[in-house]
Amino acid sequence: MLQDALKEFKKRTPKSRKIYAKALQVMPGGVSHNIRTWNLPSVGAYPIHIKAAKGCHIWDVDDNEYVDHWIGHMAAILGHNPEPVVKALEEQLTSVGGTHWGIVNEKQLILAEHVISMVPSVEMIRFCCSGTEATMYATRLARGYTGKRIIIKSLGGWHGYNPLLNWYHNKPFEEKNESMGQLTDFSKYVKAVPFGDTEKTIKVIRRNKEDLAGAVFEVKMTKIHEKDHDKTVQYLRAVKEELQAHDALLIMDEVITGFRLSPGGAQEYFKVDGDLSTYGKILGGGMHVGAIGGREEIMRLVDPLDWQAEKKHKSDVVWIGGGTFSANPMSMIAGIKTMEILKRSKSIYERLAQRGEEIRSGLRKIFNELGLKIVVLGIQSSFNPDLELLNEESKMEWVLRLLNSGIYGHRPYGYLSSVHSRKDVQKNLIAVESIVENMENELKVALKQ
Ligand SMILES: Cc1ncc(COP(=O)(O)O)c(C=O)c1O
Repeated sequence: MLQDALKEFKKRTPKSRKIYAKALQVMPGGVSHNIRTWNLPSVGAYPIHIKAAKGCHIWDVDDNEYVDHWIGHMAAILGHNPEPVVKALEEQLTSVGGTHWGIVNEKQLILAEHVISMVPSVEMIRFCCSGTEATMYATRLARGYTGKRIIIKSLGGWHGYNPLLNWYHNKPFEEKNESMGQLTDFSKYVKAVPFGDTEKTIKVIRRNKEDLAGAVFEVKMTKIHEKDHDKTVQYLRAVKEELQAHDALLIMDEVITGFRLSPGGAQEYFKVDGDLSTYGKILGGGMHVGAIGGREEIMRLVDPLDWQAEKKHKSDVVWIGGGTFSANPMSMIAGIKTMEILKRSKSIYERLAQRGEEIRSGLRKIFNELGLKIVVLGIQSSFNPDLELLNEESKMEWVLRLLNSGIYGHRPYGYLSSVHSRKDVQKNLIAVESIVENMENELKVALKQ
């Protein structure tokens, strides 16, 4: 019963409850990122407030410990506070000096070289401060380079609240505006396709080819199955070929997949090269960052030098990258240290995949044993027991029960870091086993079993 789970949740988290009540008075929804409510208030709960993190564990203000499967919006691939990153940041703070210079520095060059060495399709790069900025810039750059306007994205695709791409994100997928205040005119230039459906995607590409600047895709790790690998390779390749045939660009949004699926991200994993790629999350090593990279010929369009030398008109340059905090030394250093570790220890990716497999197969075993038809999605370091068929109340009960068992994962998909151990995975599986035993009857009704 939801009410039992809620009662226990409230008993465990009185301080979070108090803080959230106060936050609601001064911050709309009590959050600075909408997803962080996790819809918990809809059932009378509230988001838990965190006070500390180490490795793959976090502690809330009520001293409850959790195995963290959210790991900083998937950014903390090495877990929270990896020692080499912390040391380098401490050195910057205490002996080098300055959290933010706003002046070019060698650290941005070193991080740029790391990315370029890891992702063959990235020949040049520009840093910014978030993934949202990166996708906004990529859209502008694709339009500037091709001289065309339409961008294709996937239904449900998330690229931040960048108004150029904030369309067809939430269900129901329709041409209606996703947000008050967002100019509906933009929607004319965005078309959406079901990711993975080659026939439909190619149809939309052909229908819009005269004015098609490109297509932007994020491969949603928690929405596909390991079995879909080859199909996804074929899809991305076919789409790239078709885009190329119409002088349009493939933009790979690697904000989540970059440096997570493999050192070269989704592009290496699915054997396709983007013309442009966007980054965030892992690239900042726990600090804030964004980046757009790609083929030199395209990236050169953002070069301000010819305009500054009065050889070019302003309208012949793609203007991107005005961030005060772009390439700040803290983000660059944390990113460099993280990239060094990921490059040096390729076994990290094997471990991530192995842990991912352990958790996915563990979940399948639990569901099979109870005869529950819950499909487990996810690839590499992600997992997702797909609860789409459940009503919202049952989903929330599952989430509350997970939190009550010391597992921080919502909806209830999750991601792994390199420091999640077998024991952490086991804790999650034990929690899920107890959840499905408790909820067996309502699950069977929801799944029509
Ligand atoms: C695929 C993808 N693109 C872009 C973004 C936006 O990045 P940020 O939150 O850094 O602005 C996100 C954020 O979750 C994302 O998942």
